[in-house]
Amino acid sequence: MIKATTLGSGGASGGADESRQAARPTGFSAGGRSAMGAFHPFVRLERLLRGREPGAHGVAGVEGPLLLQVGDPKAPPPTMLAETIAANSAGWGGYPPPRGTPDYKKAAAGWALRRFGLPAGFLDPEANILPVPGTREGLFFAITTAIPGPGESEKRKVLIPSPFFHVYAGASVAASGEPLFLPAGPETGFLPDYAALPRKVLDQVAVAILCSPSNPQGAVASREQIAGLIALARRHGFLAIFDECYSELYFDGPPPGALQLAAESGSLDNVMVFHSLSKRSSAPGLRCGFMAGDAGWIDRFDGALRFGGAGVPVPVQAAGAALWRDEAHVEANRAFYARNFDIAERVLGNRFGFRRPAGGFFLWLDVGDGEAAAIKLWEEAGIRVLPGAYMCVADAEGNNPGQPYIRVALVHDAAYVEAALEKLVACLAA
Ligand SMILES: Cc1ncc(COP(=O)(O)O)c(C=O)c1O
Repeated sequence: MIKATTLGSGGASGGADESRQAARPTGFSAGGRSAMGAFHPFVRLERLLRGREPGAHGVAGVEGPLLLQVGDPKAPPPTMLAETIAANSAGWGGYPPPRGTPDYKKAAAGWALRRFGLPAGFLDPEANILPVPGTREGLFFAITTAIPGPGESEKRKVLIPSPFFHVYAGASVAASGEPLFLPAGPETGFLPDYAALPRKVLDQVAVAILCSPSNPQGAVASREQIAGLIALARRHGFLAIFDECYSELYFDGPPPGALQLAAESGSLDNVMVFHSLSKRSSAPGLRCGFMAGDAGWIDRFDGALRFGGAGVPVPVQAAGAALWRDEAHVEANRAFYARNFDIAERVLGNRFGFRRPAGGFFLWLDVGDGEAAAIKLWEEAGIRVLPGAYMCVADAEGNNPGQPYIRVALVHDAAYVEAALEKLVACLAA
């Protein structure tokens, strides 16, 4: 029997200080939007380490503490980014066109067609593509827009994997939806099994989110799992959101994407897929991505973005178009992360349940008590990592599936990663 967790059941648990109180899920139920900050993993990490000095930090060539907590790509983006922005500087003089430039949408659709082997014409750049600053902004607007208002409909549940990218939960709370967290641990291959939910629950779902490759575990959903979620969404009348922002960081061949399974099903109904250049092109500061899918939903999201979205500036869209059209820099980027995972494999061996993930750039390490390890690593070695509990919600009994874990981002260059992991192992072994 599958055990789903709501924000009102167990707790965001595991807090060693006042963040534990502040992050209680009842705060979400009762305090709603105003309590969102307390749930943010980096706000919680900040609170956990506040007042604690980083110990003995620094390794050869690295000044200050070793920052492994954030998935912030450090490989330099290709030079074509800055060159294209400079060549299109006239575009700074105008507001970004709400639905994006035709060329950007063409480039995004062309990339998706090539990458996922879609039939020609399956994606209409004007109807099925909407530029967004990044998947984060797109996901936030899409989730908040897709949840009906209280009293409008009974379908207000949002299915979220646990662990999860915090924006899924934040957006659900912002729209007064009912987030339901499904465990994504070793017993389900680190992915949520939404199909195991009772039919009655599925009928109340507004949105279900699948992240593949997943953050933090790097698990890749199979073709069957993706097709299964699309079919489930159609059967129960909800929107299936696929967060594929790590789709280009893989090691054993390209992961399947929801667009290709939608194409095989013959339509984009109930499907919305999110991509960006943040990880693919090491350009998180560019704020450039897109959503692709069901034309009806694209229209609705466009409507919402026109009220509160920032839009993607024209020079940024020009650079984005150039990046979507180039694969050479993406191959170099994949090699960058493959090197880091080779190092992790060598340094960690079989410690902490290490396994080489299928994609992404995180380690999800079982250290027994993630919060205690985060404090020890910070105070004794000046290493900052994220406790796994901060990416999960506890069940009704108060068990947080992320509690034993820490998340470690392998985003720095090989020398930094090697030195940091050696220090991490030595510290946790001491
Ligand atoms: C799972 C997941 N989704 C979305 C994002 C947002 O990325 P961006 O908005 O830069 O595309 C991140 C960033 O860390 C992430 O880990």
